[in-house]
Amino acid sequence: MQKQLQQSIALILAFVIGILFVACQPTTISQTPTDQPQQSPAQSSITAIPVAYPNQELSASPAQLPPLPYDAGALSQAIDAETMQIHHDRHHQAYVDNLNKALADQPNLQKLSVEAMLRDLNTVPENIRQTVRNNAGGHLNHTIFWQIMGSGGGQPTGAIAQAINQTFGSFENFQQQFNQAGSDRFGSGWVWLVQNPQRQLQIVSTPNQDNPISEGSYPIMGNDVWEHAYYLRYQNRRADYLNNWWDVVNWDEINRRYQTVTQQQ
Ligand SMILES: [Fe+2]
Repeated sequence: MQKQLQQSIALILAFVIGILFVACQPTTISQTPTDQPQQSPAQSSITAIPVAYPNQELSASPAQLPPLPYDAGALSQAIDAETMQIHHDRHHQAYVDNLNKALADQPNLQKLSVEAMLRDLNTVPENIRQTVRNNAGGHLNHTIFWQIMGSGGGQPTGAIAQAINQTFGSFENFQQQFNQAGSDRFGSGWVWLVQNPQRQLQIVSTPNQDNPISEGSYPIMGNDVWEHAYYLRYQNRRADYLNNWWDVVNWDEINRRYQTVTQQQ
C-alpha cells in the first residue's frame, strides 16, 4: 500500500516537472511574411498628393477650363497678351473639350480625377487611352502652367531656393540646364523640375502633353515648349522664349508646390 502511494507521488511529481519544463521553454512567435510588395514611402505617398491644386485634384465630371488667374496681358514682359489669350481660350479649351468627348460614355472614368487617370493609364480602355493621355495631360499641364506664372520672376525664394542650390550648385546652373532641356525637346513637349520617386529634384522633359506623374514624379514647375506657347512674338525662336520666361515665374507658387510634396511625403 505504501509502495503504491510512493509510486503515485513519483508519477505526479514527474507530471508536474514535465509541465514546468514545457512552460519554461522560450516562446516562438511565427512571423508570416506579407504577400504585399513593399512600396518605398515616396512611391506610396506620391499617389495621394493632388497635382493640379494644393488640396484638390482636377475633376473629369466634366472637365472645365479654369479661368486665367490674371489678365492675359499681365505677362507681357515675356509673353504677349494675344498669345496668352489664344493659348488659354482655344488650346487649353480644346484639351478640355476633347477629354470630355472621350469620356462621354465612360461614367466610371468620369468619377476618377484627371491625376488618377494619368497616374495609371492602364485603367483607361485601350481604344481611348491615347486620346485621354493627350487631353487629360494637356488639361493638367496647362492648369499648373497658369498658376506657376504671374509674378515678377527674379530669384527663387524659400525652401525651393535652398533645394535648387543644393542639387544644381546655383540658380544660374539650374536655369541653364532647364533651358537646355527645353531646347533639346524635339518637336512639342514640356520641360519640368520634378521631385522624382527617389525624392530628388530632377530636370526632365516630356513629349507631347505627357505629365511626369505618369512616371511617378511630382511636377514642381514646368514650361510649355509647344510653339503655340510663344509663336506670335518669338516665331521659331524657342531659346529666346525660354530665356525670357524666367521674368514671369511665380516663385511663391512654385515654393508652395515644393513644400506640398516634401511635407506630405
Ligand atoms: Fe500649351
